[in-house]
Amino acid sequence: MTRISVGGGVGKSLRRLYVGLGHRSRPGILGVAAAAAAVGLAGCTASAQEAVDFAELRRRMVRDTISEPRDGRPPVLDVSVIDAMGKVERHLFVPEDIREWAYRDSPLGIGWRQTISQPYIVALMTELAEPDPEDKVLEIGTGSGYQAAVLAEIVDRVYTIEIVEPLGLRAAAALDAAGYKNVTTRIGDGYLGWPEQAPFDAIVVTAAPDHVPQPLVDQLAVGGRLVLPVGPDGGRQELQVLEKQADGSLERTRVIPVRFVPLTRSR
Ligand SMILES: C[S@@+](CC[C@H](N)C(=O)[O-])C[C@H]1O[C@@H](n2cnc3c(N)ncnc32)[C@H](O)[C@@H]1O
Repeated sequence: MTRISVGGGVGKSLRRLYVGLGHRSRPGILGVAAAAAAVGLAGCTASAQEAVDFAELRRRMVRDTISEPRDGRPPVLDVSVIDAMGKVERHLFVPEDIREWAYRDSPLGIGWRQTISQPYIVALMTELAEPDPEDKVLEIGTGSGYQAAVLAEIVDRVYTIEIVEPLGLRAAAALDAAGYKNVTTRIGDGYLGWPEQAPFDAIVVTAAPDHVPQPLVDQLAVGGRLVLPVGPDGGRQELQVLEKQADGSLERTRVIPVRFVPLTRSR
């Protein structure tokens, strides 16, 4: 992990992240893939899927890939994020025919050439947003609705925008079916943000623009954090956190190299 801080100071979650690097534990426990194999998921039928213990797979996913990752990456330490990742039923946000893979630590296709992000990245971006219970958060790129659900477990209100209409409608239905009353969805171009609801305490962007969208900066509250991947489609992208200072300037922290689908624009 590299960190370049422009303007001095490091946010509380990043401090936690670096502290976490010093005392990682690597218990010899089954990985999610191994766990899935152990319960006979490969090629399973509909009736076998019904027998899948999603709660157990989710518990292992959180432990083995987020709170105590086994591969050397820094753990996510924010307890509210870990709790949220343990609660949200990720399998309800992916297409039915791939539910058995929902708790793997990998992105999954959700149709329309889009993906639900890797759980670790969802947890990391949520932690970097430093969500508090009274916060109002904007997400750009609803996708499956999963990241919005994770945020909704922690904060007061979530607004989320998706540019691909069928995806946005399906995510809205999934969020509704899962009982999330504090998420408001919209179909549109998230580059422009949601000015009627601004300012936001945090903005999480889950598709990569090649530059930081100025409307999102404008819609960030003082002290708010914009968490986003920045970089060209298929090229070198990095996860960044921009924190708005009292004088309107931004403190930028570069977190890790990432690969996201591009932020597209409506014509
Ligand atoms: C990696 S996926 C998002 C994953 C999502 N957050 C989830 O939890 O499933 C990125 C999403 O951003 C959407 N997207 C791309 N450009 C956008 C834009 N300008 N405005 C809103 N959504 C956009 C894509 O259609 C895609 O669904």
